Amino acid sequence: MHDSADDLRAVTLHNGVTMPSIAFGTAFGDWVGATDFQGFLPEQAWRAVTLALDNGYRAFDGARVYGTERIVGTLFGQRFASGELTREELFITTKLAHPAAPPHINISHKRTWDADKVGDIAQRVRDDMVDTLDDLGLGYVDLLLVHWPGSFGMNTTGDPDFPRQARATIWRTFCELADKGAARAIGVSNFTIRHLRQLMEDVPEPERRPVVNQVEIHPYCRDPELEAFCRERGIVVTAYAPFASGAFGLLQDPALVGIAERHGKTTGQVVLRWHVQSGRTALPKTSKAKRMGENRDIYDFALSDEEMRAIDALGAGETRRTCPDPSNVV
Ligand SMILES: NC(=O)c1ccc[n+]([C@@H]2O[C@H](COP(=O)([O-])OP(=O)(O)OC[C@H]3O[C@@H](n4cnc5c(N)ncnc54)[C@H](OP(=O)(O)O)[C@@H]3O)[C@@H](O)[C@H]2O)c1
Repeated sequence: MHDSADDLRAVTLHNGVTMPSIAFGTAFGDWVGATDFQGFLPEQAWRAVTLALDNGYRAFDGARVYGTERIVGTLFGQRFASGELTREELFITTKLAHPAAPPHINISHKRTWDADKVGDIAQRVRDDMVDTLDDLGLGYVDLLLVHWPGSFGMNTTGDPDFPRQARATIWRTFCELADKGAARAIGVSNFTIRHLRQLMEDVPEPERRPVVNQVEIHPYCRDPELEAFCRERGIVVTAYAPFASGAFGLLQDPALVGIAERHGKTTGQVVLRWHVQSGRTALPKTSKAKRMGENRDIYDFALSDEEMRAIDALGAGETRRTCPDPSNVV
């Protein structure tokens, strides 16, 4: 899926759009229970995104629910104004249609919704897209994703097919937004094989299939079956929380430490190299300038087949997730 074995820096999506392999994540806060505060802290984006731009990042992964789009858009705008940056140099991803969040997260109900609580799903998606573009100060995004396949709670409609129909409605609206030029490419996030199969049956035109499925993948959380399914259909898999959001002591795992020492790299670089060498793209996030440079400097070494297998094997035990398990979404 990468442009060539020698150049892992970008992938070409099935609609011909080129996407960088590494994008800077713009979700700030805590949702894995490391602190008492559980929710988004968009104020952290001001410094981190400034440093990321200074350190050469041109691809950014955002979402309406993160509350950072106004900040990120303002920071882009300052550089557009100074002539330092042009729109065409950026690759901007956003996500819409996040369901009402789990109760421990203190986020705004205006940025989330359950499809069964919305009168007109298509209109809600269009309205959210306008708000997102207004906040970003952009005319279009490069990639627009369905954030989650559905609600974390119960389907209260009494119609067992409702969640599937809601996804199809959201997707047809995304197709319409892409046709109007509001997004250069459209995809999904947190979709399982079942969700993908249903979507591709409901909107069967091959060119309408998602270009990307963005899912939680790190050495402690893998789904080889899902990755193979996507690969066979030309759907790029993007790893979110590529370092497990800093949880579970992942970056101190002795297997990763050993491999990193052998290559004279950090464990973070080894994990990102493993992601791109596996054919994925990834979304690392850090507040520290030194690590921003480190996380882009992964193209001058290669992991052996044995090292790749050793890292794959770390995920063979119990899956450790930072976000809810999407297979519970009906
Ligand atoms: N689609 C979805 O549902 C979804 C869900 C979750 C996340 N995402 C996306 O994925 C992005 C990244 O995920 P994430 O923010 O959860 O976390 P992450 O990138 O997996 O991990 C971030 C943590 O790793 C640390 N870190 C970063 N680089 C490091 C390095 N080189 N060495 C050691 N530690 C390093 C950071 O600490 P410091 O800041 O101290 O460096 C931070 O604690 C998000 O920002 C968002 O864009 C998408």
